[in-house]
Amino acid sequence: MAQSSTCIITGANSGLGLETAKYLAKNNPELHVVLACRNALTANAAVSSIKTLDPQASLEYLALDLGSLESIRTFGNVCKEQMESGKMPPISSIIFNAATVHESDTYTKDGFESTFGCNHLGHFLLLHLLLRLIDPNYPTRIVFVSSSVHDEREGAPVPKPNFKLNIDQMAHPEKDTRNGSTVGGERYSTSKLCNILTTVNTAVRIDNHLPVARFCSFFLMTSSSTCIVAVVESIACDSGVDSFISSVKYFVNLFACSKKTAATHL
Ligand SMILES: NC(=O)c1ccc[n+]([C@@H]2O[C@H](COP(=O)([O-])OP(=O)(O)OC[C@H]3O[C@@H](n4cnc5c(N)ncnc54)[C@H](OP(=O)(O)O)[C@@H]3O)[C@@H](O)[C@H]2O)c1
Repeated sequence: MAQSSTCIITGANSGLGLETAKYLAKNNPELHVVLACRNALTANAAVSSIKTLDPQASLEYLALDLGSLESIRTFGNVCKEQMESGKMPPISSIIFNAATVHESDTYTKDGFESTFGCNHLGHFLLLHLLLRLIDPNYPTRIVFVSSSVHDEREGAPVPKPNFKLNIDQMAHPEKDTRNGSTVGGERYSTSKLCNILTTVNTAVRIDNHLPVARFCSFFLMTSSSTCIVAVVESIACDSGVDSFISSVKYFVNLFACSKKTAATHL
């Protein structure tokens, strides 16, 4: 069967990304699923395991290291070439799922602090490269997988985001003498807040160009057995209304499910 559209999932070789790839490939035979991952071995194993379960599934692994701007640009170029040659069907969904947390000072290939560099900067560049490939008339869903840790009121046992930092301080933090889990947790929460702000901000800015694109952030709050999922979704903006609050309307879905079935809601 020829596939009619493509879903790109970052970090689909494990965890929620893998469950999402499995679910989408199994339940949407018309969908081509791209596992955008940095580890060829585990990504190819994921493709094989899904194909064993479901031989009709259409999947491929494409290399993507969110800690390297060069790798992200190469990934964007490969998608562009494959789409132009007709090998890759039009993009109908992108799931920015990959994430990392570093408790010590670690840097991406381009010298950015790794938690911020991969979770936010890497995905931000990828978003903008992929937006150029989206057909403005083709319905598209763009999902950032975030976390309740972006909001201290949710009470997650993780340090809250640091709202005082500017972009340079996030990319090139000063030496932090607090313990590693506090530093790493704060950087993780801050990067997840960046994911949500990117979702909201991009939905507002590109509305005129991609009227049919729908953005949502997917927050996860996990306990040992359940996963509370909140989906904040932007709906097409009213044209001519430019205030931030009134130009974006949201609806929020909140539901509880198992960790595994959380993937089905993506
Ligand atoms: N699990 C939870 O309790 C929870 C709670 C709230 C939110 N979330 C969010 O849900 C999403 C998925 O979480 P998960 O628990 O499924 O995570 P996970 O199992 O740790 O998977 C993370 C994925 O991100 C990939 N990744 C990390 N750094 C990368 C890089 N530089 N380039 C490309 N891929 C990279 C990993 O690849 P490698 O295998 O190569 O490392 C892995 O595939 C994340 O956005 C996370 O913030 C999870």
